[in-house]
Amino acid sequence: MCKAGPNARRGDFRLLLCLVVLASAVPVPAATPIIDYRDRFHPVVGEAGMVVSQEALASAVGARILERGGNAVDAAVAVGFALAVTLPQAGNLGGGGFMLVHLAEGDRTVAIDYREVAPRAAHRDLFVGDDGEVDTQLARFSHRAAGVPGTVAGLTHALEHYGSLPLAEVLAPAIALAEEGIEVTRPLAFSLAHARPRLRRSAAAAGYYLRPDGSAPQEGDLLRQSDLARTLGRIAADGRAAFYEGGIAELIVTEMAAHDGLITAADLADYRVVEREPVWGSYRGYRVAAMPPPSSGGVHLVQMLNILEGWELAELGHNSAAYLHRLIEVMRRAYADRSRYLGDPDFVAVPAELTAKAYAARLRKTIDLRRATPSSAVAPGLEIPEESPQTTHFSVWDRQGNVVSNTYTLNFSYGSGIAVAGAGFLLNNEMDDFSAQPGAPNAYGLLGGEANAIAPRKRPLSSMTPAMLFKDGQPVLATGSPGGPVIITAVLQTLLNVVDFGMNVAEASAQPRIHHQWQPDEVYHESGVSPDTLQLLRGMGHHMVPSRRVLGRTQSIASDGARYYGANDTRWPGGAAVAPEPASP
Ligand code: DON
Repeated sequence: MCKAGPNARRGDFRLLLCLVVLASAVPVPAATPIIDYRDRFHPVVGEAGMVVSQEALASAVGARILERGGNAVDAAVAVGFALAVTLPQAGNLGGGGFMLVHLAEGDRTVAIDYREVAPRAAHRDLFVGDDGEVDTQLARFSHRAAGVPGTVAGLTHALEHYGSLPLAEVLAPAIALAEEGIEVTRPLAFSLAHARPRLRRSAAAAGYYLRPDGSAPQEGDLLRQSDLARTLGRIAADGRAAFYEGGIAELIVTEMAAHDGLITAADLADYRVVEREPVWGSYRGYRVAAMPPPSSGGVHLVQMLNILEGWELAELGHNSAAYLHRLIEVMRRAYADRSRYLGDPDFVAVPAELTAKAYAARLRKTIDLRRATPSSAVAPGLEIPEESPQTTHFSVWDRQGNVVSNTYTLNFSYGSGIAVAGAGFLLNNEMDDFSAQPGAPNAYGLLGGEANAIAPRKRPLSSMTPAMLFKDGQPVLATGSPGGPVIITAVLQTLLNVVDFGMNVAEASAQPRIHHQWQPDEVYHESGVSPDTLQLLRGMGHHMVPSRRVLGRTQSIASDGARYYGANDTRWPGGAAVAPEPASP
């Protein structure tokens, strides 16, 4: 009826009518991120790309790079360096992370692993004291808590291989922010006040982040970071070598030597970025790409989606007891596997079966749809801590269709709280992400085994989950979150909200979340889950506990190919989705 045969000509009204009728008859896939004016939350809409991060100045830096013709990787690297200045609790030079890059040209997706590595002098019992117990102070707040930082290597690697602008150009905004200073925002003042006791213990950190009298800066103060500006300037001039072999390396080694730290010049010179194949999965006609080990994020995201695919979740109703029961049981099984099997793939063989549909089908059969399965042993006191640690995620999309989804961290807010004197940046405490001893939980209550034991030059297991969703071969969503183990469940729920419940990306981010991680046998929930639902879940045997902190802070972008929809999670103030101005004709 509507054939555009050889006789069809431009202006053929009948053909046009047919096309319009056909187009309106094509069902809109649930996840098409169109704006529906009945929604309660709305993303920022852009026509020339999008940058979303947890700090507004850094998002603006990325948007300006896109406006100047930089691609998504140029903008992402600029954001990564800018956040090291404007979001010192999580943005960093002294930490590490993971970047997922989708390249429109050649339709490739690469996973860049710039996770910290254990120094050569590290060993299995590094943090076990004479009494046989794990010394958490040493594992979290000492120079020994630091893994060899990967951030500078990771960002410069990404730029060199997939960016288009010179390093000095993408670093210039961060250098200016550090040199000229930033006005302390309310969230930064809040965060610095919270971290003050820890920052005071390092003279260098106190000098960089506190007032001369030792008090925390107030909102409106100017925070100048001249040592950091110099460090960034050295990287702009000499690239990664400045950090791993040059003057900055010397400062790190001096800091370590003076405080019983382990990182040596050889550790720094040896640091390598690893490009890995993303973990790929499929879910209801979408393809999912996410971070492979040494992050557990991608494996368990795909594993949980595989199990959930066996049920019609949309029919159960969003955040209904029947729906949340399935989520909890799936999370329980995934985190039990995480604890048993996951570790640095260069040291342990992570079973490929974990992401197989057949394995998911077997696990699904073990789930009783009426009752909670108790986690094998309830370990009392293993709560996730009240202190809100900070990692940070950012997503960037350019108009050529290149996409970056990046999560990086110092582990805790401000890492160990120890800064490298003279260099202007903080050290991570990522060594605590190893399992210091089988059965001893890390700071997130996560249990690990042999697969994640400490070894020289090994990467600690992570939960960071930069992720992307593809439909018909095109990227439609990029997301990720901070939150330690909560990261994987926050990303999971964001994807389910988009795919199963057809929410726009801002709605999907704002919904109340839950989190379960096998041990402890408790389910944390945010406010906004109905008391009736909680009652029903308790009746099924779940230990429902109000979470003392928010469950993740996603920074997401969706696209339908024509527009870009940015959603900065409302769970922390001060972030922003910024759309670059379209180039004037
Ligand atoms: O790599 C990990 O899984 C942790 N070091 C991340 C820590 C984190 O997300 C803290 N932030 N909220």
